[in-house]
Amino acid sequence: MIIAIDGPAGSGKSTVGKLLAEKLGFIHISTGALYRAIGWKAAREGIPFTDIPRLLDLMKRTQLDIRRGKNGSYEVYVDGVEVTSVLYSQEVGNLASAVSAIPEVRDNLVQLQRDLGSKGNVVLDGRDIGTVIFPDADIKFYLDASPEERAKRRWLELQSKGISVDLDKLTEEIIQRDVQDMSRAVAPLKKAKDAIYIDSTGLSIEEVVEKMLSEVEKKLSMRCNP
Ligand code: DC
Repeated sequence: MIIAIDGPAGSGKSTVGKLLAEKLGFIHISTGALYRAIGWKAAREGIPFTDIPRLLDLMKRTQLDIRRGKNGSYEVYVDGVEVTSVLYSQEVGNLASAVSAIPEVRDNLVQLQRDLGSKGNVVLDGRDIGTVIFPDADIKFYLDASPEERAKRRWLELQSKGISVDLDKLTEEIIQRDVQDMSRAVAPLKKAKDAIYIDSTGLSIEEVVEKMLSEVEKKLSMRCNP
């Protein structure tokens, strides 16, 4: 079974994806990690995102891998080195969003994402999982929340890590990222026609996971009693 969760930045895809996968005994993969890894490495090497040949060369010589870590969460490896925590800063998120708008970069990552999901019993989250990567996914969710709520969640997360940032600036960045992810020419973020829409504004993580689980159970019982 392949479960796709798409939605905008900060909608909670990774958090609920991880919990949903745990409850089902599935693997969880957050595909944004791949774009983050490429954006991060390109920036480290000083490659401008306008230089497509150098970006493609970088991708050719970069070994990307996502593996299940000790605590069940996925870990991201770039050239054999585990860099998961480095990739999850706001800055790297913005780099990922910019690099993900480049069609050649997206093309290069399609097969890897399909390979990662092909073992089955997997929850994949991203922007185009239900529309492009796995258009035949067994269940598709589109997880949404207002920009203000998403910024607030991110703000609380950073606060809990002792990092203080301006909430208005965060909200602005989230809105900017939405525009970038939804308006790009290739595989823009949008709800697949057959995706189940969940607005998580005002819902707890557990409530969202419960909603998703009940849809999965519905699907499984339809399979057993067609
Ligand atoms: O889910 P995330 O915040 O880790 O994703 C970072 C960026 O990567 C996001 O702004 C857009 C891009 N992305 C994408 O274009 N397609 C995906 N399937 C996943 C992420």
